Amino acid sequence: MRDGSNTAGLIIDDREDGIFRVHRSVFVDRDIFELERTRIFDHCWLFAGHASEFPKPGDFVTRSVAGRPMILVHGEDGKIRALMNTCRHRGNLVCREHKGSGAEVFRCFYHGWIYNTRGELKGIPGEEAYSDAFDRDALGLEPAPRMHNYRGCIFVSFDAEIESFESYMGDALAVLGNTLDLGEMEFVDGQFKYSMRANWKLLVENSMDGYHAAYTHERFFSQWMPSEGLGLGYQPPPVPPRRDGAAASDTRRGTVPLGNGHVTTNYPTSDGRAAVSDGYLTKHAKEDLEQFRQGLVKRHGPDKARMVEGGAGNYLIFPNLMIIDGWRVFRTFYPSSPDYMEINGWACLPKEDAPALRKARLEWYLAFQGPGGFATPDDVEGLEGCQMGFATHKEVEWSDISRGMKGNLAGGPGELQMRVFWREWNARMTGSQHADYTGD
Ligand code: FES
Ligand SMILES: [Fe+2]
Repeated sequence: MRDGSNTAGLIIDDREDGIFRVHRSVFVDRDIFELERTRIFDHCWLFAGHASEFPKPGDFVTRSVAGRPMILVHGEDGKIRALMNTCRHRGNLVCREHKGSGAEVFRCFYHGWIYNTRGELKGIPGEEAYSDAFDRDALGLEPAPRMHNYRGCIFVSFDAEIESFESYMGDALAVLGNTLDLGEMEFVDGQFKYSMRANWKLLVENSMDGYHAAYTHERFFSQWMPSEGLGLGYQPPPVPPRRDGAAASDTRRGTVPLGNGHVTTNYPTSDGRAAVSDGYLTKHAKEDLEQFRQGLVKRHGPDKARMVEGGAGNYLIFPNLMIIDGWRVFRTFYPSSPDYMEINGWACLPKEDAPALRKARLEWYLAFQGPGGFATPDDVEGLEGCQMGFATHKEVEWSDISRGMKGNLAGGPGELQMRVFWREWNARMTGSQHADYTGD
């Protein structure tokens, strides 16, 4: 039995010969899961939500972030806060709704303590029964130790000493900026919430796994897209040869490590690769799309407009925010045990979308990523199947992630993006702050 505090030897990373393997205990072992909580989720910047979900004073959402129940609230003072959803009296959830607007206070139903939308404790039934030392002002709802609002994207960290958001993001900041340059972005009301009986790291891999797409989602690519007159609309981007030392400023296409475990499968460039949705939108919202494009060019100039619209393929902000630019999707997921995770998905779209364009973008999102779409049920099936397979992990110990490692991508998409994730994961699990170098 592997001792969970000894995480050495879980990864074989042989850059010389081009072999990369992951020990399957990382998907099932409870000690490793607990260590992930303390070494990864307690010390990263984590995506919590988008300011457009609670645009006005008194608006709020609640959700779990790395296992912590949180209230994201737009206070009556206009400030956004990320508060721990636990009563300072004896712990109950203070807010039990998923979402609301016009809130003036949060009242804990257990003994009736009342907090305002700044999190201050404002009312205690029978307050005169407490001693003089009882300090009501010190008993407000506790905020997340750190919060950062990057252009509406709310990130939190449970590590008060964590490095700045900008330094944590490294080259991923520019890629996220590119996504948000599409317009004044909003999370469309409503979201996909689902769960999977699978380890969370399988979804990191899957969310940027170009290799599986043509097989797992065969019907989408070989039947549905042609039936829409789109042909095989998806072509994996041409990938350059081995990228040793490639900087994010390198404008060649393909998978690019962005530092600190972040990685994109299609570094945005201005040479005009259309986002994967292009054909569908052109067909169903031609005029609106044309007008939208003119606006983009006006705002950014033609080169940048192409770069923004083309997007960044699928990219990971370590450890668990996936942005899928071809579908304009933000997806995050948190494990509650080694073999179970809860997933949130949102459509992040420009507010200025005209009706036909908005409708087409949402249809595109639903068709592939929706709960009854062509991708999500297939991926759930695929990942739960992997998890079942891991019951053999004592006999069949290793998973292979070597594809394309020696720069040979003649047979289609490689797996460098997964190795980037795993190298950072491994560095953190063995006690480093970041991996020195995550490329091949
Ligand atoms: S636990 Fe909230 S008022 Fe007692
Ligand atoms: Fe998939």
